[in-house]
Amino acid sequence: DLFGAERKNAAGIDLNDPRAVTELQQAMASAAAESWAAGPIVGGVAQTGSERRIVTNPADRGQVVGEIFWATPAQAEDALSRAQRAAFAWNATPAAERAACLERAANLMSAQTPRLMAFCQREAGKTLADGIAEVREAVDFLRYYAARARAEFATPLSLPGPTGERNEISLQGRGVFLCISPWNFPLAIFTGQISAALAAGNAVIAKPAEQTGMVAAEAVRMLHQAGVPGDVLHLLPGDGPTIAAPLVSDPRIAGVAFTGSTETARIINQALAAREGPIVPLIAETGGQNAMLVDSTALPEQVVEDVITSAFQSAGQRCSALRVLFLQEDVADKMLTMLKGAMAELVVGDPALLSTDVGPVIDEEARQMLEAHKALMAREAKPIYEPALPATTAAGSFVAPAAYEIAGIDVLEREVFGPILHVVRFRADRLDQVLDSIANTGYGLTLGVHSRIDATVEQVYRRLPVGNAYVNRNIIGAVVGVQPFGGQGLSGTGPKAGGPRYLHRFATEKTLSVDT
Ligand code: NAD
Ligand code: ALA
Repeated sequence: DLFGAERKNAAGIDLNDPRAVTELQQAMASAAAESWAAGPIVGGVAQTGSERRIVTNPADRGQVVGEIFWATPAQAEDALSRAQRAAFAWNATPAAERAACLERAANLMSAQTPRLMAFCQREAGKTLADGIAEVREAVDFLRYYAARARAEFATPLSLPGPTGERNEISLQGRGVFLCISPWNFPLAIFTGQISAALAAGNAVIAKPAEQTGMVAAEAVRMLHQAGVPGDVLHLLPGDGPTIAAPLVSDPRIAGVAFTGSTETARIINQALAAREGPIVPLIAETGGQNAMLVDSTALPEQVVEDVITSAFQSAGQRCSALRVLFLQEDVADKMLTMLKGAMAELVVGDPALLSTDVGPVIDEEARQMLEAHKALMAREAKPIYEPALPATTAAGSFVAPAAYEIAGIDVLEREVFGPILHVVRFRADRLDQVLDSIANTGYGLTLGVHSRIDATVEQVYRRLPVGNAYVNRNIIGAVVGVQPFGGQGLSGTGPKAGGPRYLHRFATEKTLSVDT
């Protein structure tokens, strides 16, 4: 069963049910009342490390959330040598047992949804809706990769034996996988990478983003509690160049799963190419310059709703988020008037409140970078909507959603990772040139098309090298096992996360021929 039709995705919590919301908020508040501390977890033991960092809430920089210790080089060495010793036994553990550990972890995470949401909110600024989606996706990854391991790793595949031999091929773990993750899905992507590597029979060293080590530590604790041996999974919080880079260059690392910026993926790729030892796989899921094309046959109300969701949900901090909206000239003015109206309704503020649509961005550095881009756009582009922030956001790292009209997608030199939308008008007879300009960015992550003309949809879909194309809907929120996710070109190497072939890249194949 390649597509896991029997498997069900996690249900989450219904935010339209007032009682469920009250219970959720109470449980989140009681998790938040604990004193939070985290650090490296090596050999299953939580440790202190070199540098102690105070973690503050992105929605209120004066509010201390907890403290985290970053790992030392000695802890990294300890983790790597333990992982290397443990990898063989973990790979020899029946796939069904590995899968059962991941399924138990899924149950634990699901049961502790409010607690995990509290961490996602206070460390990464996630709104309630985003927090629920985050936990659901992590749970889905665990269950999906467990199911893939049971289906593909438990029994070797029998092959023909034309000369009377018994031939079979099996999938095996590679050794120690290094999983390097970003802050924008601090639980879902972090758990997704790890669970895939574990399901395939690898030991794992996890290096979370600098900004979100606490969420990561909670996830690792739950994976250990679920039965993943301490020496099979280690957590090393810290910065990329100090902690992750030396591991990338270490020949004992048998593969790297990376999600983050295209620039960092390039650095890792170069380091892997330069190192001694075996040539190993790099799974890189990186940035995008995601476009949506809207022609004159599209339904304006639906377009506006989908643009708002795609560009501004999660404060635009999704790799899948809409960056450049292409509007056919004939309908552009009408759509932009409606879009401005819808943007004016967006509530920016405290992510703990149910009424909030747009929470904070991850940190002050991101806020400053986004404000600098707005200033550039205000000078060099045509502002469409540029609201001020409400006074209630003064203590946090907030950026008001804004939109600017630009001449073409080539004006943008890089991905702008936040709630800033760019709009380009196009003439129907220039669609080919528009498609060329999108393809020429080199990115290929998500794409949206709003059109009722099948031939247009077909033309756009065929021309553009993208990973995930969405027609007459929003372009974010790929569902595990339903919309396998990942890009091409500058956006990533594949295979797709949450897809039936993802585990293969974490594995090696072994063929056995027995003369009978
Ligand atoms: P980033 O590249 O700055 O950091 C990602 C991770 O790489 C972090 O853990 C960081 O510590 C580590 N790192 C940094 N330098 C390193 C080095 N020299 N060697 C090894 N590791 C190093 O990215 P970010 O700001 O955390 O995340 C945002 C980016 O991630 C955006 O570009 C976004 O589009 C991308 N992203 C892509 C996907 C996808 O599936 N395609 C999903 C989420 C995010
Ligand atoms: N998988 C995430 C999404 O589709 C990035 O929005």
